[in-house]
Formats: sequence, C-alpha cells, structure tokens
Amino acid sequence: MNRQGKKPFVPSATKKSSSRHHRKILRPQTRRRSATSSTTSRHPLPRMYRQSRICRICRSAASIWFCVILGGSLERGMFSPDYFETAIEFSSQVCDTTTPVSTRRSRMSQVMKRKLRVVGVFAGIGGIERGLGIHGHSAKLLVEIDIAAQTILRKRFPHADIAGDVRMVKSLPDCDLVCAGFPCQDLSQCGKAEGITGKHSSLIGEVFRLVATTKKRPAWLLLENVPFMLQLDRGKAMTFVTDELQRLGYRWAYRTVDARSFGVPQRRLRVVLVASREADPKQVLFASSHPEPPNSTNATAYGFYWTEGSKGLGWGVNCVPTIKGGSGLGIPSPPAIWIPRERRIVTIDIRDAERLQGLPAGWTAPAVHKLGERVGTRWRLVGNAVCGKVAAWIGRQLASPGKWQPSMLGDAVPTAGPWPPAACSDGNGPRAVSASAWPVLYQSRGLLSFLRYPTRQLSERASIGFLSRAKSSKLRFAAGFLDDVAYHINELSREVSAPGEPHACSRRPI
Ligand SMILES: C[S@@+](CC[C@H](N)C(=O)[O-])C[C@H]1O[C@@H](n2cnc3c(N)ncnc32)[C@H](O)[C@@H]1O
Repeated sequence: MNRQGKKPFVPSATKKSSSRHHRKILRPQTRRRSATSSTTSRHPLPRMYRQSRICRICRSAASIWFCVILGGSLERGMFSPDYFETAIEFSSQVCDTTTPVSTRRSRMSQVMKRKLRVVGVFAGIGGIERGLGIHGHSAKLLVEIDIAAQTILRKRFPHADIAGDVRMVKSLPDCDLVCAGFPCQDLSQCGKAEGITGKHSSLIGEVFRLVATTKKRPAWLLLENVPFMLQLDRGKAMTFVTDELQRLGYRWAYRTVDARSFGVPQRRLRVVLVASREADPKQVLFASSHPEPPNSTNATAYGFYWTEGSKGLGWGVNCVPTIKGGSGLGIPSPPAIWIPRERRIVTIDIRDAERLQGLPAGWTAPAVHKLGERVGTRWRLVGNAVCGKVAAWIGRQLASPGKWQPSMLGDAVPTAGPWPPAACSDGNGPRAVSASAWPVLYQSRGLLSFLRYPTRQLSERASIGFLSRAKSSKLRFAAGFLDDVAYHINELSREVSAPGEPHACSRRPI
C-alpha cells in the first residue's frame, strides 16, 4: 500500500521476485556477477593491475595517472609498458592497504596539492627527479656535466632547463627543493677514498655555495651518497655536511635505505639526507620502519660481480648486488646471476638494470641512439643513478609527511668516530635514530621473475678469468657455486667444439 492507500503497480516479473524460484535461480547469478564484475567486465585494464593490492581510491588515481601518462607518451611517441608500472607505483606509494581509509584520503589530497619546484644538481640521468616526479614534484633546472647524461635529461625532462658544470652556475632559480646525489668516487669503498676533500666529492661545496648565495633559500634539500661515507676518515664527510647545513639554518635527518625495501631485487644501500628550513625532516624520513626480512632459504638465483673475485664478490641472495658505474676490471659491466637449478651463469640486459634502478626500461636509450655511444655508457650512467623508487618514496613523504616516534631517538653521536646508519639534528647536537634500512616493505617478485629481458651466458673468457681470481683468493663461496662456474665453462667449450649440437641455452654470450 502506498500513501494514497493504493496498491502500487508491480510488473509481473518483479512480482515473482519473492518466489523461491527467483531466490534459487536469480540470486546466485547476481552474486556471481558481483564477484567477478570488478575483475572482468567492468575493468578493461590488464590483469597485473587488477590483481595488485591497492585500494579503490588509489586505483582511481592510478587510472587517471595512467591516462595522463598514456596520452602524453603517445603524443611524444614514447609509450612503453613501464609507464603502466608507474601508475601502479604511484598508487601503491600514495597509500598501502594497511593504512586507514581516512588517512589515505587526506594523504591523497595533500599529495595532489603540495608540488615542489625542484633543482637537481649532479642530476646524472635524473633518477631522483624521475622518482620525485611520480608525486608531482617538477624539475625546473638540472645541472649535469656529462654530455651523454644531458642527452637523456633533455629527452626525459623536456620542460626543465639544463646547465653543465655546477662551478659555472651563478645562482639558483626560485625553487622549493634542491637535490644532489653528489659524486661518490672519493667516499666509496671501491674508489680512492680520498674523502670529502677529494677532487670529486668536494663538489658538494658548490651546492652549499649556491644555497648560501640565493636570496630566498630553498625550503628543502635532499642529498644522497654511499654509506661508506659514514665511516671513512671517522665520519669527516658527515661532519662537514651537517656543519654546513647547520650554518645555513637547516634542520636535517638522514637514513641509510636499501632499495630492496621498495620491491626491487637489488641490494643497494644509500644514505639519504633531508634538510629543511621550515619543517621537521624526521617526519619525512622516519615515519615508518620495518625489520629486514631474513634471506630466503630456498633461493632460486644468486647475483654477483664476475669482474671481482679477488677481494670481494658483491653477493646477493635472490637479488643482484649494487649495480655500479665502474667495476673491478675498470669497465662498467652487468652483474651476473648464478642459477643453481640450471647450473648456468648469465648476465642481465641493460633494460632490466634500468628497471632494477626503479626506472622504466629504455630510460637511457637516447644516450646511445643520439651520440652513437657504446652500451658501456649506459651501464656507467645506470650504475651511478639513484634508485627511482627510493626517490619516489621521498617524494611521497615530502608531499605528505607522516608521524615519527620520539622513542626512536638514540644516543648523541660522538664527535670523532663513525656515524650511525641513521641520525638527526637536535638542539644539543646530532642524535642517532633507530630506523632500519627498510622504511617500507613492498613485496618482491624475486630476481628471476623480475627479469623481463633475455639474459646472456657469461662468456667462457669472462668465466675462466673469474674462476681463477676466485680460486686464488681467500674468499669463501657458497657450496656448489665454483663447481657450477667450472661446469658452465665446460658446457661453453663443448658448444664451441660441437656448434651444431642443440643446447639448453642458445642465448648469446657476453
Ligand atoms: C652520483 S652521480 C648522480 C646520479 C644522479 N643522481 C642520478 O640519479 O642519475 C654524480 C653526477 O655528478 C656529475 N658531475 C660531476 N661533476 C660535475 C660538475 N662539475 N658539474 C655538474 N655535474 C657534475 C657526474 O657526471 C655524475 O653524473
């Protein structure tokens, strides 16, 4: 009965809806539909995207982002499937499903609002700037002396100005954030270890000169370098950097971060330092911390550097060791992978190395295409880069800082001695912070399933060289590893002596 006391008109099909027949036949159908609609009919997006563990708000954001990127990329004729990964990365970085929806919504709106204007000094191939760009921070000026790197920057950041030698730059444009992954040759374990006064690493002084002489100092600074700088010369480099920041009126915090925390199978530890004149950098760097997950006991692959073998190896379980711009043999080279199940030693493709650095595959291709340079140039540039995923996390945190726990504060940092893995400025001097190298815990697909491009067998010559260095060293190797290197050499020589014979791996050796 309705309000007028009349029976409402009910179509005959609907009348039946209360019958048992309807409950039996129609309900299951409806249920089935709703269960599958989100994964099949309503979303024309690839399965990888649909199955990713991201919330609804983020999915929508990712879809918008995806369309923008797709549109832009098609327009510039540079579409690659990795842009799709960017959309997923953006959404999963903005929020993870463990955060309450309300926090995610506000974080989302903040991310959309707070976009920083960035100056990248020592920009290289733009690993930092690319990562920051995922959260809307845009590069205004990029300073980089290397011509091949400049070619990439021009292609990848068409709206940014490019400058060459930082020593020739007179002043900074109006900006909010200055980034500098400054040269590490003098601070690295593999380099000459001349320290912060060395010819290359002392160039960080140019950043402080530019900041000091700029009328309106940028609100934020972001510095990056190798963790060995914390110990070298009893931490002199850190003392220099933090003293300069203090002098310029910045509060600072730094943290050693592992790229594996972001789901890429590359063990790459780097010190990231955030300084601010306006906000508390602890909220950017220490809002979350996870213990390092234990190494898998049934690893399917081990990464190592075949160019080493006499002093170290750069070993990685289910991951590659730090991808480097140089190598023990003086040439930039790909890391190798031991696959015990197949008794094979292979090396990875440059495009997978770019992906392991959190960059889209083919990011550095313009360097070779335009200048006719060798692929070695790409290895050097990729090895020197900052992992884009780490930079993206910082970009997210800058846009939407979190809360840090004061209980994380530790002891005062001793004046002369190595610096701790994480620390911050405090009224009474530097204090250690108990923050792990894993700020987030993104799921890793494992090394072999991460690789997308064909691998190459490590050549007989390279394998023989590595094996002899390894055997004459005092290093201890995993059980079966050197036997498999010897087996691999045998197989390669068999292939050469009987070239017609079919072989399990027909990929070209490097
Ligand atoms: C550690 S890399 C930086 C990598 C970069 N952040 C990236 O993600 O690709 C240091 C960079 O500083 C550049 N560089 C060295 N001396 C320079 C100078 N005087 N002026 C400008 N750039 C310089 C090098 O060419 C190198 O690309």
